[in-house]
Amino acid sequence: MKTYRVALLGCRGRGTAAGRAYYAHPRTDLVGLCDLIPERFNKLGDEFEVPPSARYTDLDKMIEEVQPDIVAIPTATELHYELSMRVLEHGVNIEVEKPMCIDLEQADAVIAKAQAQGVKVAVHQQSRAGPNMQATFRAFQEGRIGRLRYITGSGKGYYGGYGLMNIGTHMLNNMLQFGERCRSVSAVALTDGRLVTPDDVHTSPAGMGTITGESITATLQFGDNVTGTLLQHRFPVVQLEAYSLELYGTEGRLLFNASGRETGGAWCMPTPHHLPDGTNNRWERLDPIYPELYDPASSASPDDFAFADEYVRALDEDRDHACSGDEGRHIVEIMMGIFESAAYGRRVELPQPGRDHPLLRWRREHGLDDPPPPVSRSYSDWLVAEDRRLGRS
Ligand SMILES: NC(=O)c1ccc[n+]([C@@H]2O[C@H](COP(=O)([O-])OP(=O)(O)OC[C@H]3O[C@@H](n4cnc5c(N)ncnc54)[C@H](O)[C@@H]3O)[C@@H](O)[C@H]2O)c1
Repeated sequence: MKTYRVALLGCRGRGTAAGRAYYAHPRTDLVGLCDLIPERFNKLGDEFEVPPSARYTDLDKMIEEVQPDIVAIPTATELHYELSMRVLEHGVNIEVEKPMCIDLEQADAVIAKAQAQGVKVAVHQQSRAGPNMQATFRAFQEGRIGRLRYITGSGKGYYGGYGLMNIGTHMLNNMLQFGERCRSVSAVALTDGRLVTPDDVHTSPAGMGTITGESITATLQFGDNVTGTLLQHRFPVVQLEAYSLELYGTEGRLLFNASGRETGGAWCMPTPHHLPDGTNNRWERLDPIYPELYDPASSASPDDFAFADEYVRALDEDRDHACSGDEGRHIVEIMMGIFESAAYGRRVELPQPGRDHPLLRWRREHGLDDPPPPVSRSYSDWLVAEDRRLGRS
């Protein structure tokens, strides 16, 4: 069996997480590290036993010298497009952190480049591959909730538009595992308790592109009579417990809670209805399904390991990763559809013909330029400025 050569482009928080997964996986070798800041690749190089000769500041040089099968791109979101295109130029498979890109023009270009080069794109949305989501999926496949009717998912309380681009990507990716492609979107976005206006369109903190809406509720039409709702509502304080996905079937319900606390994990309820009591009205915890090769003693998180494991199996079988570039682009389609629907007050069919950013289009149609850069890249500082703009103390 082939051992895949993996190079890491970006050696900070998410690079550490990805590196630990590939370091722990018996079928992958970490063969190169790249960062603009040597302290960062040296720290990881020491942890992952990557020799100093395979640590780089120049990504092109790294790829030419270490000849990887996969380049992981765990960098800030605003760099995903540029760095993906640069790495794909070398004809190497990539995995890029979520969200894949900040608009559809970028996502289309990445997919076209990968196709032209004959390589694969995966988007690092690890919770779909992780043990709890796999347990939820297995229960679904075993028919424990009957036929799927409805899916609902919630973010953890970030400012809506920012939360959509950040956490909404994971939630949508998880929904797509059950609900097939999304065919249309209808959304309402509120800021300060009223419908958003073009003045409420912002350049996001943390490089997430153009956003709007403090509180977003989106209705999604999936295939096969299935609908869904995505909630990205700002809470006064982020609440991890809210970060969950619930599936309603004709015979029961499944719940995936991503909080990592006592309520976290996969759950099944053998009744489709909300009842005040009753013998069947209890959530039963489902056993997580770990990848066969996962070693709990390793430093890798189970979800990141499962994501790496899925890439190994996909390359073995010459198929796409479950979190493929095509799926990543579809998620951007849904997110752009949500912004477009909220701005224009109408349902948006997917895939949409317009690939430019709908919120920038909306502003232009109202005689407004693109919004200025955020007052701060930091989400919390930006939030303070947004509250000030809205006249709150
Ligand atoms: N999947 C998840 O659960 C999850 C969780 C949090 C964040 N994220 C995503 O991860 C991304 C941010 O990751 P991070 O916090 O590790 O990013 P970061 O910006 O802290 O680190 C990126 C590193 O890449 C390096 N870098 C940037 N450009 C480079 C270049 N041209 N050549 C070499 N090195 C370069 C930087 O020096 C930096 O060390 C975002 O896209 C975010 O949405 C994902």
